[in-house]
Amino acid sequence: MRFDPLPLVGIAAAVAREAGDLARNMRDSAVADVDTKSTPTDVVTAGDRAAEQLVRRRLATLRPGEPVFGEEEGGETAAEGLTWVVDPIDGTVNYLYGIPHYAVSLAAQVDGESIAGVVYEPATGHLWTASAGGGAFLDDRRLSVSDATRLDVSLLGYGFSYRADRRQRQADTWAALSTRVRDMRRAGAASLDLCAVAAGRLDAYAEHALNRWDWAAGALIAREAGAVVHLPGEHPALGADATFAAAPGIAEALVQALVEADFARI
Ligand code: IPD
Ligand code: CA
Ligand code: CA
Ligand code: CA
Repeated sequence: MRFDPLPLVGIAAAVAREAGDLARNMRDSAVADVDTKSTPTDVVTAGDRAAEQLVRRRLATLRPGEPVFGEEEGGETAAEGLTWVVDPIDGTVNYLYGIPHYAVSLAAQVDGESIAGVVYEPATGHLWTASAGGGAFLDDRRLSVSDATRLDVSLLGYGFSYRADRRQRQADTWAALSTRVRDMRRAGAASLDLCAVAAGRLDAYAEHALNRWDWAAGALIAREAGAVVHLPGEHPALGADATFAAAPGIAEALVQALVEADFARI
């Protein structure tokens, strides 16, 4: 491997912690400074912006010359070489409402593949990490996915995007899937949904229309914990825009259920 992932995990962890602590500490003033983006439901706060700016400043010093691709300021992902991919606050709606379920997601990708990823939860101080080939961890505990083998008694994570044109179909899929599983959760932070699959807190998770910054760290953490992961465009039956992570024992059954629920059409 051209890059040793472990030092990158260390850098990402330190930077994500600092950015997340900043967002947490400034929350009261940050949520008074709210704008909307693509739709009235799609919000951004001063906390999102400040956290991304901090990540960019720190990486410019620690890893000069490496591009950063982030939700709030954009940027390019390098076709070759290392790119940092940041979601400064994943779960902005939770942050806005004072629900402590939000995270900073930061990954290092090489040639479009994540080789190091961290997801930091400012409200609890917990840190999820993974490196390619090195396993996945919650703090210092190694993670592995659930041993679920039956979809009908599985717990499924799901999400809705803030694009108005997607909601109805996402809701239709939710309704169709709800009869196929034990229960479903919409917790509001895609990175943490993927980490939950890694820890066996969810048996699986699927969502349409995520962006690279939503899944870049969490998908590596889920995969390194043993999940079957399909990223957008990787599984023909799921369409071009699906993110999927599941315990291996239910992965095929869930793909089939998603096909029957017309998930790819969203
Ligand atoms: C959102 C969250 C949410 C998911 C949305 C994302 P944001 O990210 O991850 O769980 O359902 O699709 O856009 O905007 O809070 O960073
Ligand atoms: Ca957002
Ligand atoms: Ca996000
Ligand atoms: Ca975000």
